Amino acid sequence: MIVLDKQSALFTLHTRNTTYQMKAGAHRVLLHTYYGPRLENEDLSRLIRGADRGNCPNPSEAGMDRTFSLDILPQEYSTCGVGDFRLPSIELELPSGSRTADLRYTGFELRKGKYALENLPAFWSREEEADTLVLFLEDAAAKVAVELYYGVLEDCDLITRAVRVVNKGDETVRLCRCASLCLDFPQADLDMITFHGRHMMERCPDRQPLRHGVQSVGSTRGASSHQYNPFVVLCGRDTNEEYGTAYGIALLYSGNFEAAAEHSQFESSRLVMGVNPYHFGWDLAPGESFTSPEAAMVCSPNGFGPMSRQLHRAIREHLIRDPYQGARRPVLINNWEATLFNFNEEKLLSIAKAAAPLGIELFVMDDGWFGKRDDDNTGLGDWFVNTDKLHGGLEALVPKVQALGMKFGIWVEPEMVNEDSELYRAHPDWALTVPGRAPARGRNQLVLDFSRKEVRDYVYGQLHKVLASADISYVKWDMNRSLTDVWSAALPAERQGEVFHRFTLGVYDMLERMRQDFPKLFIEGCCGGGGRFDAGMLYYTPQIWCSDNTDAIDRLRIQYGTSFCYPPDAMGAHVSAVPNLGTGRTTPLDTRGVVAMSGTFGYELDLAETTQAEKEIMARQVAQYKRCWELVQKGDYYRLTDPFQNPLYNAWSHVSPDRRKALVSVVTGSTYATPPFMTLRLKGLDPALRYRVNDGDSYSGAMLMEAGYPLPLPQDDYLSFQLLLEAE
Ligand code: GLA
Repeated sequence: MIVLDKQSALFTLHTRNTTYQMKAGAHRVLLHTYYGPRLENEDLSRLIRGADRGNCPNPSEAGMDRTFSLDILPQEYSTCGVGDFRLPSIELELPSGSRTADLRYTGFELRKGKYALENLPAFWSREEEADTLVLFLEDAAAKVAVELYYGVLEDCDLITRAVRVVNKGDETVRLCRCASLCLDFPQADLDMITFHGRHMMERCPDRQPLRHGVQSVGSTRGASSHQYNPFVVLCGRDTNEEYGTAYGIALLYSGNFEAAAEHSQFESSRLVMGVNPYHFGWDLAPGESFTSPEAAMVCSPNGFGPMSRQLHRAIREHLIRDPYQGARRPVLINNWEATLFNFNEEKLLSIAKAAAPLGIELFVMDDGWFGKRDDDNTGLGDWFVNTDKLHGGLEALVPKVQALGMKFGIWVEPEMVNEDSELYRAHPDWALTVPGRAPARGRNQLVLDFSRKEVRDYVYGQLHKVLASADISYVKWDMNRSLTDVWSAALPAERQGEVFHRFTLGVYDMLERMRQDFPKLFIEGCCGGGGRFDAGMLYYTPQIWCSDNTDAIDRLRIQYGTSFCYPPDAMGAHVSAVPNLGTGRTTPLDTRGVVAMSGTFGYELDLAETTQAEKEIMARQVAQYKRCWELVQKGDYYRLTDPFQNPLYNAWSHVSPDRRKALVSVVTGSTYATPPFMTLRLKGLDPALRYRVNDGDSYSGAMLMEAGYPLPLPQDDYLSFQLLLEAE
């Protein structure tokens, strides 16, 4: 709900449990007055005070009033070079050479339903589920208009934001920075949690108190990256899973981003998040506009648990699109860890034949099926079947897999090219390279200039042919190196700052085309595992391969960190062989199943080589997943322990929305003598109900939550337990 007080230009956005407020105050400066737990009928600007403070300038309109300073006031969208020295949200380079931006409120517009963004991912809603507020700001001297968009998804407690900048003048203006979100807080005694990582160990939470100055994370790699995720949490110093205020803020963007927080001189703080200003500059000719990616925010008064569950719900219900919203993800078998590049039709079919009787529903043929691709040095760019490996092509293979009762899926890496490929030999200028400099290689491959439409059109044409040649249900869209040598032959020198962003828009364009042309196709995102695991990608690819690390124990940490923003049904997770390819660790098959089942379940090992006993366990796992999938995909997710802290055991649960059913998973650490007796306290149950556990004894919800459930003593390393709770 949006409440307006036109007289005092007070704008209040209410979701079910939160309130967000702005006010165009004196001199039409748009102030941010509040974001937090819901408050009724309050003008929070009463809390804002001014004072004459040294070295804090006053805008000219303030005349002799030295207490009005942009440097002190909480800003809704911070400016630059005109008196606020904290983090700017926008920077303009004007025809005069000036790099300032000064914004004043000019008006508003209310719309039913949620706004959409052209060519960018965004949360969506039906008209009755959301409202939009647009606030208009203007830099009169620069003749630049700025529109601030707010989407209010009341039921989900989600507020989205985006910014559109329009050049209203008659000369070109350069946009050097355009954040999606600026969020001022009156206090700075906050912690910031960022999610850092690396290839094979993504999204590890890092909690640090804000300190004076700026702290930031971001990416300059052309993808949102393994290293830092475009999601941050700001929270009270004492906030935990169930207690304290927590703000979860996600950027729907898969390219270079920056999230920066500043603790100011007067003990207030500011978060600014958006496209990374590194190597960014966008020329706006007269009449042209630029739209920022979307940012989305939730605020939980009761800790991280509800914060994550709000985000999960919003992503499931308002980001994932048809036909995959709420639909069960197929249990899949992928041949990558089983064969790497070394396979032919016979080998693939041997795996498929072993998979079908286990209840596996989708066969995914990974890297190596196209061009001349026998290792990772050649072939990328040549999207036609390698008939040395697959004699009859996809036309022959796909029906054979389907005859086994399974669907068929395929791996692609469209943004890349190997120098040893037909594509590169024909179009060497299509790879990103800086004139006069030999480009850096990554995995021995170069990056195609996806900012160029003709490059995208060509690659898309090739992919379209493949997808239309057989009944392909699934695509794994991979991206295995960071961008370097970012320079486009299609743009003049002064517009090279557009290339990174245009590259990301190009990726979105390709994904959207694929969705439109093949509406039933299920696309899984991937980027050397989880290097582009962000809310932007989820709009196109409802699940993302969470990490190349398939070790069940490492996955506990990766999936835990990922769950702070993203729901389990977005996390690709597979059972792989032991010793694990990445870590060398051996874990029981049961445990690998329990961990993978907490995401979108699949297998990635040579099933043709597994024993009968292993197959029986796998068949039971698949049956268990099919029994519990609604809990995993639609249930409320509870982190019961922190795998970075608890060496003894790790636990989490999925609880049905009506709280009548729950799946609790526990994995123990490495064992030692005389361990303590472990009692696991559950969360999210109905205290008044009695739950039968694994069709056996029953316990009250109150007992399970307050006193706990007795876990067996572990007799070995890395054991697992799964409890299926059903209300009597
Ligand atoms: C990336 C992916 C893997 C696999 C390989 C194939 O690393 O994350 O799952 O597809 O590429 O080359």
